[in-house]
Amino acid sequence: MATNSADKRTRVGIVGAGPAGLLLSQLLARQGIDNVIIEQRSRAYVEGRIRAGVLEMGTVDLIDEAGVGERMRREGLRHDGISIAFDGRRERIDMNELTDGKGVMIYGQTEITKDLFDARIADGAEIVFEAEDVKVSGLDSVRPEITWRKDGQTRQLACDFIAGCDGFHGVCRASIPNAALKTFERAYPFGWLGLLSDTPPVDDELLYVNHERGFALCSMRSKTRSRYYVQCSLEDDVAEWSDDRFWDELRTRLPVEFAERIVTGPSIEKSIAPLRSFVAEPMRYGRLFLAGDAAHIVPPTGAKGLNLVASDIRALFAAFSAFYADADEKLLDDYSATCLRRIWKAERFSWWFTTATHRFSDDPFDRRIQLADLDYMTGSRAGQTAIAENYVGLP
Ligand code: APR
Ligand code: PHB
Repeated sequence: MATNSADKRTRVGIVGAGPAGLLLSQLLARQGIDNVIIEQRSRAYVEGRIRAGVLEMGTVDLIDEAGVGERMRREGLRHDGISIAFDGRRERIDMNELTDGKGVMIYGQTEITKDLFDARIADGAEIVFEAEDVKVSGLDSVRPEITWRKDGQTRQLACDFIAGCDGFHGVCRASIPNAALKTFERAYPFGWLGLLSDTPPVDDELLYVNHERGFALCSMRSKTRSRYYVQCSLEDDVAEWSDDRFWDELRTRLPVEFAERIVTGPSIEKSIAPLRSFVAEPMRYGRLFLAGDAAHIVPPTGAKGLNLVASDIRALFAAFSAFYADADEKLLDDYSATCLRRIWKAERFSWWFTTATHRFSDDPFDRRIQLADLDYMTGSRAGQTAIAENYVGLP
């Protein structure tokens, strides 16, 4: 096999073209900081992944700052509240009223990814797709490198810095010596079965449901496209879940007025995802900086995954900008600690919301405690405010 030695160099080498890598690339490019993205999959594969779609206002602002907010502003839906159903009741959390006018924006991660790809490619960005056997090295030197194979050739990219935006299963975090990294993890004993359909959403806002048979969520992508989830067993196979079985199970778990008016239809996507809480500390090793799912995972219950990507990228972009503008390394040095403070609070909220709404066991004591937790938290302005502040995103 041929080897092209040190055939390229760039300032920031980015591993992974998910939302973290694309957003960073876009922000850096607008600031005149050259960068290259190395992605192991094709563009079609990355764009085809169905992920969540609840954006905090800080995320919306960052997408605007990156110059890719036009379609989001046009097509996104602003939501001012969510509801939580449990024990035969439904409680609305009025985020707008409880947080001084804040809310969230419904706009799919899939759409953000498309908008970012369009912008990067129109800009002539360098994105290597279908890179095989990606490796990072020289992380504790000032000239780290990314290597990969493409079309039978080994390629090398010398960088000032590497941004590890390669998701939970990526190579970047795995390249940090064990002794330099501490990880924290909780796996949950169930999964989410999600179904996407071109049917009008059952309600104008999202509904989170604690039901004795398990959690359910009514969400949406637009006024004509719904996204629903039911808690399922990790042993379940999607093939065992016909659309009819899904709709029946969902209706069983919903409050009667929702079950009666839900519009069902054929699924356009159906998949099972496990739930996990995970944090790796610190988010830096030498000249490698981890961002997004490469460093942390939250269960989807609080819709925080993509928003944590945005806050990591905001901090990392600011740090690279200060370095290239003024040779100032302070923000780079502070990056991990700055991000982790916010991350752990999002971990806490996502864990709490998952714990309060999912079926963990057959133990009636556990169930009574859960219902008391939800009753307490939704039963006072203080409790509701705590939920609302976390949902719209902490500073
Ligand atoms: N080399 C190159 N690219 C890689 C490698 C590798 N070894 N491993 C993974 N990748 C790519 C993946 O193919 C993927 O496109 O890195 C990208 C990581 O993207 P995401 O998994 O979407 O991670 P991130 O950008 O951090 O976004 C996280 O996705 O799971 C949701 O809730 C989560 O919204 C959040 C978002
Ligand atoms: C989604 O629409 O996919 C979604 C919404 C809210 C969540 C999780 C997922 O908490």
